[in-house]
Amino acid sequence: MTYEFNELTQRRGTLSYKWDQGQALFGDPEVLPLWVADMDFKCAPAIVQAVTERAAQGIYGYTVRPEAYTNAITGWFQRRHGWIIQDNWLTDSPGVVPSLSLAIQTFSEPGDEVILQSPVYNPFYDVILNNGRKLAESPLILKDSQYEMDYARLEALMQQGARLLMLCSPQNPGGRVWSKEELVRLGDLCVKYDVKVIADEIHCDLVFPEHRHFPFASLSEEFAQRCITCLAPSKTFNIPGLATSFIVISNPQLKQRFDQRINALSLGSVNFFGPSATIAAYNESEPWLDALLEYVKANQDYAVSYLSKQLPSVAPVISEGTYLLWVDCRPLGLSSDELKQIMYKEAKIAFNSGSIYGHGGEGFLRINLACPRDLLAEALDRFAAAVKNRTK
Ligand SMILES: Cc1ncc(COP(=O)(O)O)c(C=O)c1O
Repeated sequence: MTYEFNELTQRRGTLSYKWDQGQALFGDPEVLPLWVADMDFKCAPAIVQAVTERAAQGIYGYTVRPEAYTNAITGWFQRRHGWIIQDNWLTDSPGVVPSLSLAIQTFSEPGDEVILQSPVYNPFYDVILNNGRKLAESPLILKDSQYEMDYARLEALMQQGARLLMLCSPQNPGGRVWSKEELVRLGDLCVKYDVKVIADEIHCDLVFPEHRHFPFASLSEEFAQRCITCLAPSKTFNIPGLATSFIVISNPQLKQRFDQRINALSLGSVNFFGPSATIAAYNESEPWLDALLEYVKANQDYAVSYLSKQLPSVAPVISEGTYLLWVDCRPLGLSSDELKQIMYKEAKIAFNSGSIYGHGGEGFLRINLACPRDLLAEALDRFAAAVKNRTK
């Protein structure tokens, strides 16, 4: 079966967070949005069918979580990632970010330090700071155009008392798919200093063929015992609006504490469409995902080649996974505000400004590659023309 990733679907006027906020966020309703991480592709046919059938029922009542739902999840992780998850390790949640926040609340106290590695997905900062915890920042090291972890700094933070670490794996915005060796080295430090790990692995399925994602908790029993893994089918299959995600905790004590928090807030009930969409995604949409990854990889190749010709001074950080391209625009010598002015006012496009991802993000832009090639080409043309106009 072939999938039409080149098809341009009109999303303006569909209550789209990405397409219908041009005026509110960028001062112009016509801005081309290549920012927030949702895709401009129709979902896999099996998902559309499952959701359509569910919608046709016409009564949208409280919903149970069928066995087929947990089987779809555990089957997927075994097949795709070689990770055997038991049903009773799973807890439902409406979103990964809410789960990150609940995990911070459950496994740390106000005033505690929580480690993150910047630049990183901006809500990591929010869930630490809005819960009254302190940032313990270990900046990633950009070496030969790729990010590496700074183990000396991580160890120093642990020695100083940090006991909780947030891991973004694969990494957003840098697109690193951490190797087994890198994760084991990190995990060994966590074991040595008794640090718990909140692993946000939402991008785990968006990995290009020559790379492999290793679930942190799958690497050893010692790692699993201290790990809270936050997952969802939403990024992989473009269903974030269905508010369906899950947490994997194999340590029964940690799971009990986390579930208590979920129950206290009554957050455990599932979305009406969630189980049906998830079953269709994990059981029937693997060929769609493989085709998607090829398309996104080709979009990355297109963007990198285009930038090397049109704006040779900028330096894309080649992604190993995710559908995000992180571009080092510092050689242009423009401030964050000037880059925003160029994007929103002159080029009428919106990539994410790197400054929101914290330390090390200033002067970078994040481009969402999950769109039809023509749209990507149009956005890059407009951006390059505006930059050349400004810097000539
Ligand atoms: C690393 C990461 N975590 C979480 C999310 C969002 O998760 P949710 O929509 O389930 O809260 C995103 C979305 O881009 C992300 O990149």
